[in-house]
Amino acid sequence: MSGLRVLVVGSGAREHALAWRLATEDGVARVLVAPGNPLMAPVADVRPDVRTDDFDGIVALHRAERIDLVVVGPEAPLVAGLADRLASEGVACFGPSAAAAQLEGSKAFAREICRAAVVPMAMGRAFASARGAIEYAAEIGLPLVVKADGLAGGKGVTICATLGEAERAIREALEDGRFGAAGASVVVERFLTGREASVIAICDGTTALALPAARDHKQLHEGDRGPNTGGMGAYSPLPDLADTRLQEIVGQVFEPVLAHMASRGTPFRGALFAGLILTADGPRVLEFNVRLGDPETQAILPRLPGPLAPVLLAAATGSLMGLPPISTMADSTVALTLAAAGYPTAPRTGDEIRGIDDARAARALVFGAGVARDDQGVLVTAGGRVLTVVGRGSDLAEAADAAYEAAARIDFAGKIVRRDIGRVAAELAA
Ligand SMILES: Nc1ncnc2c1ncn2[C@@H]1O[C@H](COP(=O)(O)OP(=O)(O)O)[C@@H](O)[C@H]1O
Ligand SMILES: [Mg+2]
Repeated sequence: MSGLRVLVVGSGAREHALAWRLATEDGVARVLVAPGNPLMAPVADVRPDVRTDDFDGIVALHRAERIDLVVVGPEAPLVAGLADRLASEGVACFGPSAAAAQLEGSKAFAREICRAAVVPMAMGRAFASARGAIEYAAEIGLPLVVKADGLAGGKGVTICATLGEAERAIREALEDGRFGAAGASVVVERFLTGREASVIAICDGTTALALPAARDHKQLHEGDRGPNTGGMGAYSPLPDLADTRLQEIVGQVFEPVLAHMASRGTPFRGALFAGLILTADGPRVLEFNVRLGDPETQAILPRLPGPLAPVLLAAATGSLMGLPPISTMADSTVALTLAAAGYPTAPRTGDEIRGIDDARAARALVFGAGVARDDQGVLVTAGGRVLTVVGRGSDLAEAADAAYEAAARIDFAGKIVRRDIGRVAAELAA
């Protein structure tokens, strides 16, 4: 065979990092991205007309371009059944079926699977009626956490310091329809204390191979304050969760979940992302995502020495067993989100972006997300998270310096960058 033809579905910096990475690999003949963004053009064939919800368009692209493997970036098309559609066309898809994607699509379902598979998580329960939820909230003690069951764009979780707040959060979801159908039931959970970690495993239905751990920062402002965003930055490795400890988490979390999902007839194939909290009593699962993290992926992929395409293909075709564990380079990465003025509530668009070549000349990686070309072909901002800039170094301090130096070379009006990503000495002392 003359090399794989891979289609990446999505348009953000995560998909850019995937396309960049796959395009460098010997076993890959061609990378296409749908819909992609203009910054991906040097590494991939970008198809802006094929949106992530256009399943017919994606299938047509597969037929026209004889795609061997589809790698799906975001969760929404997976929850909506893109992998099932591709399976019915006989295309290998890296990403779970709609049934398996319920691990992200429903937090109540994820809790049910963890309970059945005996995976450690916060004490909690799911409710469809406010009365039961409020009674339970009074039982479990404060602070507590109320979560909308379904996909709520990262806005469905409320940490409640008082029962009054909990009652309000419960009623807003269940009675006022604040999250629409995503809030038709809620999870009420005990609040856990500890640092968070993102551990992602590449799964083929039975076998899980862990990627190096990363930590993202969702809040807009330094010190994890301010409104939640899609993610302001990430780093890898974690000083408090060494890559060498990942195997324990594979045994405690991923293997039991895969075994249980398979036993229900809904095997999980794709990237299973465990949002963990590292408590004094060990790691606990806060949630699952059914895809690679953004911005975690941008921090993780540059740390992998070996080729990625064979691992993704093996996951998609159920043949991971027998592959060696995913090896990791010793160096560190810090990934910074460069966001637009007004993000996350009302990001401004249309500001000219300059300096990407300068940033790359500083040996940083630059991945595009909310970017577009205007009528004159000028690169402009076109979304909240505009770019990810990744710095590398022999430790996190060096990687952060590299990332910040490169990020400073990129300019657009109103640019927002969190100043403390990867500054772990300060973070771990806090
Ligand atoms: N049980 C919990 N204890 C402490 N913090 C929590 C708990 N559950 C969620 N959180 C906090 O809320 C954030 C969002 O919750 P998560 O379950 O990851 O939902 P989503 O990412 O879908 O918004 C977590 O990253 C964490 O900071
Ligand atoms: Mg989360």
